[in-house]
Amino acid sequence: MIAMSDVDLRGKRVLIREDFNVPMKDGAITDDTRLRAGLPTLRAALEAGATVIVMSHLGRPVEGEWDASLSLAPVAEALSALLDLPVGFAKQWIDGIDAAPGSITLCENVRFLVGEKRNDHALSARMATLCDVFVNDAFATAHRAQASTEGVARAAPVAVAGPLLAAELLALDRALSNPRRPLVAIVGGAKVSTKLALLESLVDKVDQLIVGGGIANTFLSAAGRAVGASLCENEMTDIAARLIASDADIPIPTDVVCAKQFSASEPGVVKNVADVSADDMIMDLGPDSIKVISAAIENAGTVLWNGPLGVFEFSGFAAGTRQLAEAIAASNAFSVAGGGDTLAAIATFGVSDDISYISTGGGAFLEFIEGKTLPAVAALNDRNNS
Ligand code: 3PG
Repeated sequence: MIAMSDVDLRGKRVLIREDFNVPMKDGAITDDTRLRAGLPTLRAALEAGATVIVMSHLGRPVEGEWDASLSLAPVAEALSALLDLPVGFAKQWIDGIDAAPGSITLCENVRFLVGEKRNDHALSARMATLCDVFVNDAFATAHRAQASTEGVARAAPVAVAGPLLAAELLALDRALSNPRRPLVAIVGGAKVSTKLALLESLVDKVDQLIVGGGIANTFLSAAGRAVGASLCENEMTDIAARLIASDADIPIPTDVVCAKQFSASEPGVVKNVADVSADDMIMDLGPDSIKVISAAIENAGTVLWNGPLGVFEFSGFAAGTRQLAEAIAASNAFSVAGGGDTLAAIATFGVSDDISYISTGGGAFLEFIEGKTLPAVAALNDRNNS
């Protein structure tokens, strides 16, 4: 792919697709990680002499209906503060933007436009007329073939990859294509069914696959252990058993932390997996299981992490995920982490600076690891091959 830095942006109108789909509560941004991740790209384009126009989506509005709660106006304000520059906000923009040379303008939520989600050709062609150069920097939306991600990359006069998109692809490629071994992946979270494609793809690539959360309960059940009243997908145990029998080493937890109710105030009791009773809920992995995981991470050459090991939002059940985060932070392995809950855990345990690469992608991160083609990336590749 051609990189943004390969193109002369001086005096050009540069349309940059970012993923500024940030969490909001009562009109306030509650986590600006995705804004900060895009800042170097915006700064680089401005420093190169471009007139910068930024597009993003926010949430999942009904197309054709403006919705104040999903307006990007607060994001324009936040960007202005972060960049220490005035950032214009264009509520109406698809028919043209009056932008002064060298300025930066954020367009209103692309998903308010009819045709965005179905990648309407006429809409992407209108977006393309706004610019001389289109830059896709939105890795986190690269799995969506939409007008502002895929269509515009085919229609714009020039289409290139932004630094954030390029860095994300490079980090994931480094972790998966020719990793320093052993390659250890940690997949936690609630359900095997929602991460099945991920697990199936990983067992063929990794040396060790560590499972946590509700996923580990289903694996415990597949290994013949009782899991009591824990979250467990009985219909997935056959698949879990097949994965256990694969070439990847999948350590099955030997001890767990149980509670009688799903509550923050509930006391946790460490139990050997043989002692889980019918009314127990498994809320976290136990100290012996965590020791095994920490040792695997200490010896790893590459670590890929998606999903918590337990209910880390409740302090009594956070030890597994906290120690995992600390082990990854302390290891010399090249480490890549991604996914909403994982990022929240990394922030909670204060290890952001010690993870080699933190992806801004949720669905895109998973689809890349699953080996799927990301349509917005494919569009850039096709442009630059033609
Ligand atoms: C995300 O948060 O994963 C991306 O912004 C994509 O959002 P979407 O799932 O609504 O397309």
